[in-house]
Amino acid sequence: MSASAQIGVTGLAVMGRNLARNFARHGYTVALHNRTAAKTHALVEEFGDEGSFIPTESAEEFVAALERPRRLVVMVKAGEATDAVIDEFAPLLEEGDMIVDGGNAHFADTRRRERKLRERGIHFVGTGISGGEEGALNGPSIMPGGSKESYEALGPMLEKVAAKAEDGAPCVTHIGPDGAGHFVKMVHNGIEYADMQLIGEAYQLLRDVAGYSPARIADVFRTWNTGRLDSYLIEITAEVLKHTDPSTGKPFVDIVADAAEQKGTGRWTVQIALDLGVPVSGIAEAVFARGLSGHTALREASGHLSGPSPKPLEEAEAARFADQVEQALYASKIVSYTQGFHEIAAGSAEYGWDIDLGAVASIWRAGCIIRAAFLDRITAAYAQQPELPSLLSDPRFASEVEGAQGDWRDVIGTAVRQGVPTPGFSTALAYYDALRAPRLPAALTQAQRDYFGAHTYHRVDRDGTFHTLWGGDRSEAES
Ligand SMILES: NC(=O)c1ccc[n+]([C@@H]2O[C@H](COP(=O)([O-])OP(=O)(O)OC[C@H]3O[C@@H](n4cnc5c(N)ncnc54)[C@H](OP(=O)(O)O)[C@@H]3O)[C@@H](O)[C@H]2O)c1
Repeated sequence: MSASAQIGVTGLAVMGRNLARNFARHGYTVALHNRTAAKTHALVEEFGDEGSFIPTESAEEFVAALERPRRLVVMVKAGEATDAVIDEFAPLLEEGDMIVDGGNAHFADTRRRERKLRERGIHFVGTGISGGEEGALNGPSIMPGGSKESYEALGPMLEKVAAKAEDGAPCVTHIGPDGAGHFVKMVHNGIEYADMQLIGEAYQLLRDVAGYSPARIADVFRTWNTGRLDSYLIEITAEVLKHTDPSTGKPFVDIVADAAEQKGTGRWTVQIALDLGVPVSGIAEAVFARGLSGHTALREASGHLSGPSPKPLEEAEAARFADQVEQALYASKIVSYTQGFHEIAAGSAEYGWDIDLGAVASIWRAGCIIRAAFLDRITAAYAQQPELPSLLSDPRFASEVEGAQGDWRDVIGTAVRQGVPTPGFSTALAYYDALRAPRLPAALTQAQRDYFGAHTYHRVDRDGTFHTLWGGDRSEAES
């Protein structure tokens, strides 16, 4: 077989097949491979007229079909399957060839794979791809890691197939070496969890406190989507809320079991944040809220516990309350992005990735699940001040939160009084208040630690490390 494909895709389930079609639709010849060859042939039968495909049945045939340096995209189930595919293909590759892993790999696995393949001169490009099957076909947001040289060979192709933001810029950039791309994709998913949780809390408040029907809440969300909350997740929330279940005639949202599932990237975001010492409380609450929802037996056993039940507001008050919820949602959203970008900055510092935070925000503007008008503002904030300590230090975000915070506090107060759980809104406000607090009770925590464990403390008035002899004469010793 003559080597004439500029790119190859192995793993032709929903994501791989659509990505392969996307490359072909942009004029590239695409070599195809799947463990089960039937999927390869089905793709060519159904979509062969969309572009130029080279179906192959074996690893040898697949590799032989690729032009050098070979660009081989792996879109298989993340985990052991990725290692199995690498073990199968890597021995057939040569120096300078590239394996692009587009699956949702853990960045630590990506670092391990990259290191191993680098020894053989093969570029391993761990790449976050967001946008689901529709994005893979029509333009995803792409977050490639790996070496700079690999981006030189891959970048122009990725730029063609990526989503385009409103200003026409492709939603792809070289994130940084080894696992940087998969790390950023992980945090993207963590932010997605937080966004969804906050939207869920806004919905619950409009339903239980404002007393609105799902259809009416859909209208509220549609209106919000024309303003600063303009985003894919708000848009689809309105669609979901206006949908009626055909078999019962009930609002669709009422016939769906309220036990949320997860695949793991949100959990990873929190686990890694704990390792890095970064407070991503909004993402953590979102993961925990999904976890709590799934404990159906525990919830059933606890349903009798006492507390207030929400009483819907009068019409005029409800409309005012809905406006306040928009403020609370927006301010909480700013906090969850602040926390997510803090985690990316911390990961970048820890692993020496030198990630451009503004560029990350800019490639999330289209194609991905958290695409939102507001990301333009984050890009602008980092462009103005690349060393911004936190998004909340940006004057525009700070003044928006200042404007929102009266309503933000009122909404949380109302939720607490009426017994509506709003862990996302509440933790976001607590984070904001903790950041601006002149003194935190951490001083007391340190004193307690010194008392029971001689863990020592620092003083506010002089340098050094101190320990008080709590069981003795309580004199202070410098250690
Ligand atoms: N679905 C999404 O919205 C989405 C979004 C972003 C990223 N991703 C990531 O993209 C990747 C592909 O996702 P997907 O939903 O299209 O497919 P998937 O269900 O995660 O994986 C199915 C594919 O993996 C192959 N596979 C499984 N085990 C294998 C093994 N041991 N050796 C070789 N091939 C193996 C399957 O081959 P057979 O046909 O032979 O079984 C099939 O092609 C995943 O890593 C996923 O996390 C998915």
